[in-house]
Amino acid sequence: MEICGQIIAGGVGKILIREKSGEKIELGDLLVAENSEGYLILQVYDLLYGSQISQVARELIAGMKLEGLGAGLEFFEPQLRNYVLALAKSVLRVTSKPHVPKVLPDFFGTVRHVLEKDLDFLIKPPNPIYVGKVRSGSKVLNVDVYLNGVEALAHHILIPATTGRGKSNLVKVMLWSALNEKKFGILVLDPHDEYYGRNGKGLKDHLSAKENLLYYSSDPPVGANTLVINLKSIQPEHFDGIVDFTDAQRDAISMYYREFRDEWIEKIVRGESLKGVDQRTLNVLQRKMKTMLGVYYQNGEIRCTNEVFSDTSGESTTDDIVKALEKGKVVVIDTSKIGDEAELLIGSIVANKVFSRYQEYKSQGKLDEKPTISIVIEEAPRVLSSDRLAKSGENIYSMIAREGRKFKVGLIAITQLTSVIPRNILTNMNTKIILGNEMATERHAIIESAAQDLSDDDRTIASLDKGEAIVSSIFTRFAVPIYVPLFDEFVKESRTKDRFESEGKIEIEFEG
Ligand SMILES: Nc1ncnc2c1ncn2[C@@H]1O[C@H](COP(=O)(O)OP(=O)(O)OP(=O)(O)O)[C@@H](O)[C@H]1O
Ligand SMILES: [Mg+2]
Repeated sequence: MEICGQIIAGGVGKILIREKSGEKIELGDLLVAENSEGYLILQVYDLLYGSQISQVARELIAGMKLEGLGAGLEFFEPQLRNYVLALAKSVLRVTSKPHVPKVLPDFFGTVRHVLEKDLDFLIKPPNPIYVGKVRSGSKVLNVDVYLNGVEALAHHILIPATTGRGKSNLVKVMLWSALNEKKFGILVLDPHDEYYGRNGKGLKDHLSAKENLLYYSSDPPVGANTLVINLKSIQPEHFDGIVDFTDAQRDAISMYYREFRDEWIEKIVRGESLKGVDQRTLNVLQRKMKTMLGVYYQNGEIRCTNEVFSDTSGESTTDDIVKALEKGKVVVIDTSKIGDEAELLIGSIVANKVFSRYQEYKSQGKLDEKPTISIVIEEAPRVLSSDRLAKSGENIYSMIAREGRKFKVGLIAITQLTSVIPRNILTNMNTKIILGNEMATERHAIIESAAQDLSDDDRTIASLDKGEAIVSSIFTRFAVPIYVPLFDEFVKESRTKDRFESEGKIEIEFEG
């Protein structure tokens, strides 16, 4: 076993290790300290220099070298006199099984780099969602990390990171493995049309895509569904907390809804006046429907600029989506050609339906048979920020974040800004897959609400490279550092693996 350092001082949470020269201990490295009962896994969170030579002497020698007077001047046994010190914390104690570490490693004991066999306790859970491989610093170990989809999705997942650090890539990898599973359904609102793989690799290339993936787009490729939603599917409450209406507008909407039920939007768009509603209010509502939904009235017809909303077709779209989710499928909605508000509204219609159906299943005692349903939302602060909630009140997304767990409905919230989301929502998101973040305020918000104590990991999070992440979850024993594979490469590998597996099966069948 290659020794890479020796414990020389410290205490719980702050173990000082001297690096063996040339071993290159990295920030974030997982190290193992063995003793007779088992071993402790330590994680490095800071590095510093140590030296036996006084600073005054080092300054003098450096000066002489820099000024050209120190040719040939060397330290006596430099590897003994100058060295690197690593600060580490214990993250896990493993005897016959893993525990929260409550003991210190042996004083003056040696440490080595973690090996794959040290992580044998990380087993594949039921209903797995793949997130990547264990990482020690920047070294990737061949140990797969999965979340139990049924549990983790109902308890919400937050994916915070600065732009370009690999959030979308991670979600794509997760969705890929979700396509194998029937125990959870996932609705993906995809404002960048980046998951299906219209021009390149994507979820459509999965072997189960035909069976388990639904793709809706206003501009669907062959074989996909056209995204058309009938105006009758939209109820006033679907706008709650997503679009701001004045009191007068709100009153007018309720009057139209009371009078015309599911034709309320059509009547407003057609400009049919209603007793008690001011013409100016009606005009404003008409304008709002046009800017939000692209819906307007021309030459005796209701039209829609993006053709997503219609008064004549799309009656079953939202029901079809909800049914697919209830069968444990992945439903991707390409919202790249519609506005922000229309995207959130479509999500709201589906989420409201799912939520009320699941509330009903619960009251009928049928919830256990139903798959968990999760909703992927990009730029989550659009609906979850404190400002938004203060201004517009609760919306279906914040309601799910607060109480969806009881009804097996959860969110996968993607965000560049964590600090603007209220603390009580953040702490409800019981799994956080933290990618790199250079903003200190964002890191603090993430660390403060994490499932494990990450207070020493500020520097580590700041230095995470693309695809490097930390999974902090109430469902993991410790905050597991992972590397998320690049989707294109992961797909290549997983398809060959699938092929081997199915070839293997055929062989066995022939032999039998
Ligand atoms: N695991 C990875 N390994 C290597 N490169 C990666 C990885 N993940 C992402 N990248 C690279 O980084 C780029 C940005 O990734 P991605 O689009 O997933 O980031 P993002 O966090 O979703 O960004 P945005 O905030 O703009 O949505 C990708 O195009 C890819 O080239
Ligand atoms: Mg992205």
